[in-house]
Amino acid sequence: MSPETQNSSNSQEDEARIFLVGFMGAGKTTVGRELAQHLGYRFIDLDDVISCRAGTSVQQIFAELGEPEFRRLEREAIQSCSGLNGTVIALGGGAYMSVCNRALLRTIGKTIWLSFPLEVCLSRVRGDQTRPLLGDEAAMAVLLDQRRATYAQADFTIQTGELPPNQLANQIARIFG
Ligand code: S3P
Repeated sequence: MSPETQNSSNSQEDEARIFLVGFMGAGKTTVGRELAQHLGYRFIDLDDVISCRAGTSVQQIFAELGEPEFRRLEREAIQSCSGLNGTVIALGGGAYMSVCNRALLRTIGKTIWLSFPLEVCLSRVRGDQTRPLLGDEAAMAVLLDQRRATYAQADFTIQTGELPPNQLANQIARIFG
């Protein structure tokens, strides 16, 4: 069975911006870097863009300004991607939850959901102090359940979490090849 599922048609024009969507620990940054290399694109982590623009870390934004302000900055950062060409962008795990963000992403690029089991995601982020929304396993299971149907609206879904990042990137690159 093919690991990737195409959920919509794609055009040459908007393939120039590829957005990786998925839960904390799905490997969006690691796979995104590999994918960018495969395609000869540049790579951007949206949380880094937010942090850079705000002049402080994601944890500090959550702690001092609150999640709504983080989400506003996140939306602005996505908007700022519309002028980029040939770029792979790793979105934060909550970025695709906003209706506005999804509408914008549909107009500026293609989205790929890295859909891996919760255990796979948690094994990578357990104990990470830099993720303000990271909770215990039960809380993460609830959050992923709340988000799954929305992630599934991405243009493509990749479900082979056990493959190394470079092989995953290779499979995704073939979608755009
Ligand atoms: C978030 C995930 C984080 C970061 C922020 C909120 C979320 O990114 O954007 O802490 O809502 O799931 P990662 O998915 O890279 O951990």
